[in-house]
Amino acid sequence: MKKIILLTSLLTSMAFAQVSKPIEMPYVDYPVETGDHDEVVQQYCLICHSFGYILNQGKKSRPYWTGTVQKMVNEFKAPIPKEDQQTIINYLVKHYGYEVASGH
Ligand code: HEC
Repeated sequence: MKKIILLTSLLTSMAFAQVSKPIEMPYVDYPVETGDHDEVVQQYCLICHSFGYILNQGKKSRPYWTGTVQKMVNEFKAPIPKEDQQTIINYLVKHYGYEVASGH
């Protein structure tokens, strides 16, 4: 009987030992397209979240990117000067979007 209790506590501690092991998170390196003032985009758009938020949207239209940048500024209070907003929108449309009058 003693043996069984000993074995049980040993197994339990082993199970806990496994749970308390450090969890390794995969490191995802999002490529940032260079050129067209990508440094402005990196300066302002990486303050709150990774570049993955931008890449995950896929190719989007100019109205989409304009609206998204405005949302970051107006709703989330991203501190981006007006002239830099236009630079960022142009960069996003060129590298992560397409030019159309409307649509998403
Ligand atoms: C002040 C903080 C802040 C800054 C700076 C910021 N964002 Fe965001 N962004 C957010 C938050 C908060 C969300 C919403 C996260 C969520 O819903 O999980 C978000 C979400 C997004 C999304 C996901 C789609 C969506 O509409 O929610 C995109 C794309 C995005 N941001 C792009 C940008 C770009 C481009 C810039 C630079 C112009 C930028 N962000 C700068 C806070 C910020």
